[in-house]
Amino acid sequence: MKVVRCILFCFILLAACHPEVDDSKQNDVIDEEDIIFSDDGYQIYKENSCINCHGDQLQGASGPSLLDIDLTADEIEAIIVNGVGFMPPQDLDEEDRRALVEWLSAR
Ligand code: HEC
Repeated sequence: MKVVRCILFCFILLAACHPEVDDSKQNDVIDEEDIIFSDDGYQIYKENSCINCHGDQLQGASGPSLLDIDLTADEIEAIIVNGVGFMPPQDLDEEDRRALVEWLSAR
């Protein structure tokens, strides 16, 4: 009797856990592609060579990942204008820079 109850319990656990894990995985991927590839911010990011050093999905390359960065909009803007460490200053016009900062802050 104990064995049967244990098996039942395991089935319920499996049934309860499995769909949840799959769902959240799928949603993550779709969300990320939606946000990143359709936005104007991404176009600015791509056209101003940030993409070369920070990766096509902000995942990082020679530069660090820009996902979930812990910086204020002002700090990001200062980094673009002045550069930081091995990152050279980036020459964007003000409008593009603002839009890019706003977009990056939301990532
Ligand atoms: C030539 C390569 C290169 C280019 C082009 C480049 N970066 Fe960077 N970036 C780096 C490197 C390297 C760092 C890390 C610098 C350090 O801390 O020494 C960095 C750091 C940063 C940081 C700080 C990240 C953190 O967590 O502190 C931000 C924000 C950033 N870059 C944004 C941009 C944006 C926006 C652009 C395009 C306008 C850009 N970068 C273009 C190489 C680059």
